[in-house]
Formats: sequence, structure tokens, C-alpha cells
Amino acid sequence: MSEAEDFEIFLAAPPGLEPVLAEEAREAGFTGVVVTAGGITARGGWADAWRANLCLRGVGRVLVRVAAFRAMHLAQLDKRARKVAWGEFLRPDVPVRIEASCHASRIYHQKAAADRVARAISETIGAPVVAEAALRLLVRIEDDLCTISVDTSGEPLHRRGHKLAVGKAPLRETLAALFLRQCSYRGGEPVLDPMCGSGTFVIEAAEIATGLNPGRSRRFAFEALAGFDAKAWDAMRQGTPQAAPEARFFGSDRDAGAVRSATANAERAGVAGLCQFDCHAISDLARPEGPTGLVIVNPPYGARIGNKKLLYGLYATLGRVLAERFSGWRVGIVTSEAGLARATGLPLAPPGAPVAHGGLKVRLWQTGPLK
Ligand SMILES: C[S@@+](CC[C@H](N)C(=O)[O-])C[C@H]1O[C@@H](n2cnc3c(N)ncnc32)[C@H](O)[C@@H]1O
Repeated sequence: MSEAEDFEIFLAAPPGLEPVLAEEAREAGFTGVVVTAGGITARGGWADAWRANLCLRGVGRVLVRVAAFRAMHLAQLDKRARKVAWGEFLRPDVPVRIEASCHASRIYHQKAAADRVARAISETIGAPVVAEAALRLLVRIEDDLCTISVDTSGEPLHRRGHKLAVGKAPLRETLAALFLRQCSYRGGEPVLDPMCGSGTFVIEAAEIATGLNPGRSRRFAFEALAGFDAKAWDAMRQGTPQAAPEARFFGSDRDAGAVRSATANAERAGVAGLCQFDCHAISDLARPEGPTGLVIVNPPYGARIGNKKLLYGLYATLGRVLAERFSGWRVGIVTSEAGLARATGLPLAPPGAPVAHGGLKVRLWQTGPLK
């Protein structure tokens, strides 16, 4: 793959958090970053797509745009699809699946569009096109413009490969990372989650502090593309080792199973030595010794778990405990209802954008350092 490659790379983000991902991508050195609906675009080559998969904590998947052309009718799609240099990125021996969508275009039949592209691939490079293939090509026809992208991620990127044990309503790691970033967490202070469930916030925070790449333990779809350079990829994955952070990371939950899961997940992620998980209710939460930091929590809410009246009481207890014992700490609360957030009685700033999570919209509510 040449140095001169310059593609559009689409980085998917949860709608509402696109600007937060844009900030992360710019800080990580990605160029040409533009916020769009459902993600951001950047420019770069294949190695930039690998790096986005490996390093960016907030991205859900990484698509590389490999072709764009006008197609007014199926015969034109057929002709132009045969001119795409498929062999530069697809291997004849690796099956691929095609997902097509059509919007506001003269070509409106998705299946017919997918069939034309499938035929172009089979008849030019001979790669099998099968519905069950792991490698995915996305064909999107909008306003008669056909764009073709390769999904370089495969499994969604929140599956980092460490959180195998989960309890009720776990947060996606990508979402947790973006909420931590929204709370201005950059790795230099302690983080505590008093309703930690499977430990998502605590483990993400510890990984950020340690400089561990989120994609270090998993495989990616781009490893099956033509021109994939395993040696260069290995070198990229090795990364630069970082010194162990001074900050510590705390999780607790009243559910013993959740605490066991969080501990096992932290061990798999290689950050157990920095994390402490305890089993107790929020009312027994004690302030850790040492510097102040961030309390970030995703308490039970709404239709997902439990009953409303109890929930208001739980949020009130959370707020009281934090107000009494956590002066100097900042607080971030992820919840679906403004009324529940307000029931904490904490001095909350206006909330962040609504973000889809498990069929509900959640928002991040934040305080400054508590008095
Ligand atoms: C929505 S889940 C948190 C999920 C977590 N963020 C994750 O990614 O796995 C809420 C958690 O709050 C815990 N919880 C509920 N009431 C509690 C209480 N009074 N004290 C401590 N934990 C409590 C539950 O056991 C559950 O694990």
C-alpha cells in the first residue's frame, strides 16, 4: 500500500457524541476531521484506518471509502463497478458480503444494486460474495452518487475483548470513553464509580491512564484485506510503553456478582493492579484517601431496571453521600431522566446531548468540584 493513499475515512460515533469523537481524533493526530451525522470523517491511508481501529476509544467502527461515482441506472452501476480496482484491497480467496442502500436516487432497488456490485467483484477478481462473509462492503447510493466503503473493523469496536463478564445494562466501552472525555478526564486523576456493574468506566479510565490501546487484544476485518502488512501492523500494535500511572481507580457495587465480573474484566484488560473493586451499597461508600478526582456513575434508571419511586430514593442517597463525603471531586451522572438527575440535589450544569443506549436516550449530567 502506497504512501500517497488518501481516502475518506468514516469513524462512526453514537449520535450526539460526534464532536467528542472529533476532539479525540484531532488530538490523536487525524487530519481533515469533519463532524457529520452519526460520526466524523477524516482523511488518510490504510495505516490511518488501522490506527483509528487500534487507538481511538470512542469510535464504533471505521469505514474506508474506496470508490465514489455517479450511477443513474443499473447498467451504469454495472459498468462503473467493474472499473473499481477491487484487487487493490480485496483478496480473491477472502469472501465478502455486500450491504446496499438507496436514497433519493433513480436506482432504488437495493438488492439489484448489491447484485451488480457482487457480479463486478466476482467477474473481475473472483472473490466469493456470500451473505455470511465476515468482511463487509457497504454500497450507498444517494442522490445518484454511489459510494463504496470497506468496513475495516468487523466486530463493533466496543468489543475490546476484555469485558466478557457483564451484569445488568452494561455500558458500551466506546460510550464510557466518550463520557469520560466529556468530563475532561485525560488519565491524570483518580476515578470512582460507586455503581460500577461490570466495571466499564473504571477499566476504561485505568486504560486511558496507562496509555493502553483499546484495540490491543482483538482482531480487525482489515487483517483480511489485500496488501495488509502484518509486520507493519505488529510494529504499530507494539506502541510506546508508558510508565504506570500514580492515580488509582475505584469501583463498587452492592451486587457481589457485578464486583466479581468487574474484577475479572479488569484482570483480562491488564489493569487489575490499578483498580480496587468492593462490594457495598452506595450508602457505605467512603472517600478514597489521596487526591480528588472524578466520580462517574451510570445508576439504574427508567424502564430498564427497578421501580420508579425506589429509584428517586436511590438518586437522593447518591447525591447526599457525594455531597457529604466527596468535596473537591467532580461528578458525572449518566441517566435517562432529568428528574432522576435532579433528585440527587447536586449542583448540575445543563446536561449533554441525548445519546441512544439500550433503547432509551441517556444524557451526561456534570458538576464542577463539589464544595
Ligand atoms: C446500570 S448498572 C451500571 C452498569 C455499568 N455502568 C456497566 O457498564 O456495567 C447499575 C448498577 O447499580 C448497582 N446498584 C443498584 N443499586 C445500588 C446501590 N444502592 N448501591 C450500589 N450499587 C447499586 C446495580 O447492582 C448495577 O450493577
